[in-house]
Amino acid sequence: MRIGVLTGGGDCPGLNAVIRAVVRKGVEVYGHEFVGFRNGWRGPIEGLTKPLGLDQVEDILTRGGTILGSSRTNPYKVEGGVDAIRATLADQGVDALVAIGGEDTLGVAKRLTDDGIGVVGVPKTIDNDLNATDYTFGFDTAVHIATEAIDRLRTTAESHHRALVVEVMGRHAGWIALHSGLAGGANVILTPEREFDIDQVVGWVERRFEREYAPIIVVAEGAVPKGGEAVLSHGEKDAFGHVRLGGVGNWLAEEIATRTGKESRAVVLGHVQRGGTPTAYDRVLATRFGLHAIDAVHDSDFGVMVALRGTDIVRVKLAEATAELKTVPASRYAEAEVFFG
Ligand code: F6P
Repeated sequence: MRIGVLTGGGDCPGLNAVIRAVVRKGVEVYGHEFVGFRNGWRGPIEGLTKPLGLDQVEDILTRGGTILGSSRTNPYKVEGGVDAIRATLADQGVDALVAIGGEDTLGVAKRLTDDGIGVVGVPKTIDNDLNATDYTFGFDTAVHIATEAIDRLRTTAESHHRALVVEVMGRHAGWIALHSGLAGGANVILTPEREFDIDQVVGWVERRFEREYAPIIVVAEGAVPKGGEAVLSHGEKDAFGHVRLGGVGNWLAEEIATRTGKESRAVVLGHVQRGGTPTAYDRVLATRFGLHAIDAVHDSDFGVMVALRGTDIVRVKLAEATAELKTVPASRYAEAEVFFG
């Protein structure tokens, strides 16, 4: 078989580990050939290819980003996009695709499979909000980066008797906020799943100051105060249609300072959470996903995504994986609330 590989959506530590595993097992165990498509779905639409063999995947296991490049291009939103993909695959002699991406990329993979193109999906997102898998690779790395930042911010917050607001990624789901907040011993964790009450947050902050500690507030970028949408810049889109970062974190720090009279600072971690080398956990998870994805392609089992269930890698329908986002359940949030204030 000749197999195309692409990476779509925001980059994520572990993408190269997946590509390596797919190609190593595909060539060495099954004898398949590969072609890389550049820049997500733009690659097969525009015929942008890159050689992909054993030489190209040497030394990429630990490298962040993606050697194939990425984009948020959706062929169903480009005129003639799907026909262009068909033409490229025929031209390249490609029999099947491995698409590594999040909800958008895999949503396209599902529709293409319905339209007769064989695709196997691999779940990627630092946000961990993909349905039907316990974890996505990239999440562990992002949580490690955010936790280290919280640890460092705590010592400077304590020295200056300041409240420190740490804004982490997560537009629709608060997994990074929850896990890094728990790991870093945050005094307040705010997630998009539940509107927060600013009076209650201020109460927790004051309690912390009364006990002579500096409060650390971890907030997901998509968290919204009750009835407060109008005051936030969060949700505004830039010229490229991307959501701006930093709205809720900066707003919270100002609000805390005004209401408590204590100095407050906001730190927006932003894309640093997606950069650099993956953790050992993410390298192993990404590698296992890659090995199982090429098995599915070899079996011509299309329209599936590889997924982690417990400690096993299984195949689930792309339809199930993209049906809804996996958000933080109320019970998980309640566990963290014990530590607030
Ligand atoms: O990959 C998901 C994500 O990290 C979100 O948490 C974040 O809102 C978004 O990507 C920002 O990505 P970009 O600036 O690349 O559009």
